[in-house]
Amino acid sequence: MLLSHHSTLTQFLIEERRRHPTASGDLNALILDVALACKAIARTVALGEIGGVLGNQGDGAAASVNVQGETQKKLDVVSNEVFLQRTEWSGLLAGMASEEMELPYQIPSQYPRGKYLLVFDPLDGSSNIDVNVSVGSIFSILRAPADVVESGRDVTEADFFQPGAQQCVAGYALYGPTTMFVLTVGNGVNGFTLDPNLGEFMLTHPRIQVPPDTQEFAINASNARFWEAPVKRYVDECLAGKTGARGKDFNMRWIASMVAEAHRILMRGGVFLYPRDNKDPSKPGRLRLLYEANPVGLLMEQAGGRASTGREPMMDVIPTSLHQRIGLVFGSKNEVERIERYHREPAACKDDANPLFVERSLFRD
Ligand code: AHG
Ligand code: MN
Ligand code: MN
Repeated sequence: MLLSHHSTLTQFLIEERRRHPTASGDLNALILDVALACKAIARTVALGEIGGVLGNQGDGAAASVNVQGETQKKLDVVSNEVFLQRTEWSGLLAGMASEEMELPYQIPSQYPRGKYLLVFDPLDGSSNIDVNVSVGSIFSILRAPADVVESGRDVTEADFFQPGAQQCVAGYALYGPTTMFVLTVGNGVNGFTLDPNLGEFMLTHPRIQVPPDTQEFAINASNARFWEAPVKRYVDECLAGKTGARGKDFNMRWIASMVAEAHRILMRGGVFLYPRDNKDPSKPGRLRLLYEANPVGLLMEQAGGRASTGREPMMDVIPTSLHQRIGLVFGSKNEVERIERYHREPAACKDDANPLFVERSLFRD
């Protein structure tokens, strides 16, 4: 088929902007730069071993480690470079922050500075890259504080400490069997599929909605012994299935690429948990607030789902550090609300061996 009836990402953005005549169009240009970065990363990912980009960055003792103490994959580093290179020149950004850079990235002096901040996880799920399982890129666009824009000064970490509710744009690219770009500009969630012949993202999934109920959950069960009581209770009830408090069977999935789990949940519902646990007191959760939890959280909320720390809405959390980790629960609204309720009921979940807990969960619902 030569002609597709789908709108391109560019057409979609221009038509959206027409509905907001006062908007400058700068954001659209920035989104298109990010989309181009994602297309470049998609090509590199698709080449796999042929492209010479699999494996770790550096070898053996020289293996390179990022600020999180995690071994960097070559593709983590390449993807980070692609994001910087495709966006730094535009004059739209005041600064950037990335999982792969300890400090905020300053726009080089040869380029003008703009009014937005770009925050990203250049490659999410990168432990999956060597086994040919889906990975993705996650991004968030914030407004730079007024004094940054007025003075053109370097950005500091504190300039990024804005709650998720203030994100102007959030999205991700998923490098799966097809490459997709999923986006919110604060007016619902739309999904685009890369047409590799045209090199264009086409609007294939307009107005994505997360179903409010689900029978599918995702959690890394190898951490079960470190979970807090409300999470144990929730998972136990799912596992008990038809014969338990929930009265229905659940299915479980774990891809270990959060971006792919988020996509599955946007497509057909579900709930994802990487909760705060007792594994390592220095790490309150596994996933990062600014470039994982917040963008995915906004997408969920914009699609009628919900995102939470378990204790409070993710979008309300005021960040306190650039690479802050946080407990994350997102997906189908009723399920996330249930998990939040379990966190508010400490008496019922003090101890899962406590007969009170067992009794109460029997009588629930
Ligand atoms: P990243 O590759 O950006 O470091 O993120 C990996 C994250 C996330 O994608 C995934 O859900 C989680 O780590 C996987 O954790 P486990 O190793 O516990 O499965
Ligand atoms: Mn990640
Ligand atoms: Mn990453």
